[in-house]
Amino acid sequence: MNPSSFPYGRGFRSLTREIDAPMALAVQGELPSWLAGTLLRTGPSKFEVGNRTYNHWFDGLAMLHRFAFERGSVTYANRFLRSKAFGAAERTGKISFGEFATDPCRTLFGRVAAIFAPKLTDNCNVNVLRFGGETVAFTETTLPMRFDPETLATLGVYGYEGRLRGQVSTAHAHYDAARAQHYSYMVEFGRKSLYRLFRVADDGAQAVVAEIPVDLPAYMHSFAMTERYLVLVEFPMVVSALALKFSGRPFIQNYRWQPGRGLRFHVVDKDSGRVVRSACADAAFAFHHVNAYEEGDGLVIDMIAYPDATIIEQLYLARLREGLPITATGVLTRFRVPLGEAPITRRSLAPMPLELPRINYEVCAGKFYRYVWGTGIQLPGDFLDQIVKIDAEAGDVASWYEGGCYPGEPVFVARPGAEAEDDGVLLSVALDIENDRSFLLVLDATTLAEKARAVAPHAIPFHFHGNYFASAATGEHRDLT
Ligand code: CO
Repeated sequence: MNPSSFPYGRGFRSLTREIDAPMALAVQGELPSWLAGTLLRTGPSKFEVGNRTYNHWFDGLAMLHRFAFERGSVTYANRFLRSKAFGAAERTGKISFGEFATDPCRTLFGRVAAIFAPKLTDNCNVNVLRFGGETVAFTETTLPMRFDPETLATLGVYGYEGRLRGQVSTAHAHYDAARAQHYSYMVEFGRKSLYRLFRVADDGAQAVVAEIPVDLPAYMHSFAMTERYLVLVEFPMVVSALALKFSGRPFIQNYRWQPGRGLRFHVVDKDSGRVVRSACADAAFAFHHVNAYEEGDGLVIDMIAYPDATIIEQLYLARLREGLPITATGVLTRFRVPLGEAPITRRSLAPMPLELPRINYEVCAGKFYRYVWGTGIQLPGDFLDQIVKIDAEAGDVASWYEGGCYPGEPVFVARPGAEAEDDGVLLSVALDIENDRSFLLVLDATTLAEKARAVAPHAIPFHFHGNYFASAATGEHRDLT
């Protein structure tokens, strides 16, 4: 090992073994007896096709992981998502679809064909939601994929219809329980590009909420939602639709950082579709919004902010596999956006940097909240190596750390009957470098004390997002975005 590197590079090696039949995992400690549901996660798991390697962490072929809980025990299964991107790679031994930072293999003729008929990838390696009545894996195109939450069998594309057209979308749709709707957006590139906000009801009904014309569309990984409003925040990482179509470069390499554009907030009324305010703040970048809510005459919008978009450069595989020092975290930052003419203000809420933020979504989405959980950094320069908790009101912080372990996104699950916002557990998949195995880590969400862990049969590459779905038998509707 290079003395200036960390052992986290193991988390960027391919896992190709599938476990179709759920296998019982040995549990150390005690799983809460009330945990009766399924944690479904997705993430990149195969980084090589034929003799080529994908360029970026976000490019790898998607694998689904399933941890199912019942009466204090847990089983595990994992299967590749059978996307067209996966199928073509298996069949031809070539990277056949363009990903975030990797272009497909092209012959001279194929290159011309690809330019004029770009194939959107359906490699849904970013998030899993219960969406429009189905269990759906998402990436950042308009081709989400349905799958069976019991068997992990791939069922096919979740189709958008009519005016719901576009190429790029988000894996972080929001769920509005009061309206029984998911809200999301897509970007339609063209001679006149636009952002199209839309909703999908629990029964699958789709409708456009609003369309916002844009000259240079921004790269946005997520957006914000309050009880009444949707907020698109345009980071000044922007692309020309023509460059995207004709440059011949991978998707993200067409985007340019133009800080002079600032950070543009578009506040849209959910019900009327009216843009009630568009306003600018100083430039910043983020992948993840944390939460947002209405307060007084304006909105509070919290996100994990970076000064610029160089974080994207740090997540190329060649660099990650070397375990080079990295800064993969931002700062929990609060923007106040008045609905009138007053300027936007911002401040950081806590000194502890983090990523992959989660909240008690079921109770707090779009409303006042206090607690944020996420992954953070204990050793400067290391990859995400601890779980953190931030009290956004008091600024208090707490962490869970174990040397040589790299925990992923902590998914909050409320204890049945809980009254306190943070009464429940966190479920995180952690990689144990020394034992070359991942384990499911269960923490007390209030104190971050370990309650249990269950060792998986292999090392699971670092992945992005997932959600916990309570068993249908309990009659609860849980949809944590
Ligand atoms: Co994300």
